[in-house]
Amino acid sequence: MTAQLHIYDTPEATAHAVAELMLTKANEKEKLSLPYNIALSGGSTPKLLFQLLAKDYIDSMPWNIIRLFWVDERCVPPTHAESNFGMTYENLLKQVPIPVANIFRMIGDADPQKEAVRYSTLLEVQLAMVNGLPKFDLVLLGMGDDGHTASIFPDNLSLLQAETTVAVAVHPSSGQKRITLSGNIINAAVQVVFLITGSSKSSVLRQIIQHESGFEQYPASYIQSSKVAFYLDKAAASQLPL
Ligand code: 6PG
Repeated sequence: MTAQLHIYDTPEATAHAVAELMLTKANEKEKLSLPYNIALSGGSTPKLLFQLLAKDYIDSMPWNIIRLFWVDERCVPPTHAESNFGMTYENLLKQVPIPVANIFRMIGDADPQKEAVRYSTLLEVQLAMVNGLPKFDLVLLGMGDDGHTASIFPDNLSLLQAETTVAVAVHPSSGQKRITLSGNIINAAVQVVFLITGSSKSSVLRQIIQHESGFEQYPASYIQSSKVAFYLDKAAASQLPL
């Protein structure tokens, strides 16, 4: 993987760089009177980005053309502390003028299998189909300490090539069910951005970027959209060659 690496001093600077990327792309889309279809990840890392977007981009971002989808969701209600939607709502959605009709929540509190089917169908309706797959303009990914991304964990690499675009996954240690995009639809995106910060990710990141022996065990290593870019802080990039 000839990865594009963008490395910044702090998590805040890294989040700012991703926000600027999103603003540039969104403005390009607005000029073409096109939507900007984004799939968001959850977890803790994107919180800073969402807070920044809500604080500093409320007037500049063309929110009316932004359409938000999710990469994955925990099978909990949106009010649950672990809900990705809930985190996004609190840190971004309730603070910016994005039309409610542009928000496509994965329903974590629905039956998982039924929701996977529903969301897969929704993506086919809401996104352009290219080579048989719904095409996102941007997929924003994080990476776990174990090299997972989305809710594709090392013990279930088959989700990377799953037939369906949305699947049910299970967290290997907590047993928590998840709804997740599968690998093929992520790789079909126009652009994939990994937002990764913190030293706890640095070892796995080095193994993936350097293609060290055994790197294939990590789901994040399979994300090879022709336009994948890593946005890293110095801590996450600390084991990469200068
Ligand atoms: C989730 C995310 C997941 C996340 C990684 C990193 O639902 O947890 O979508 O893929 O990006 O687990 O999480 P942190 O940002 O909390 O390290």
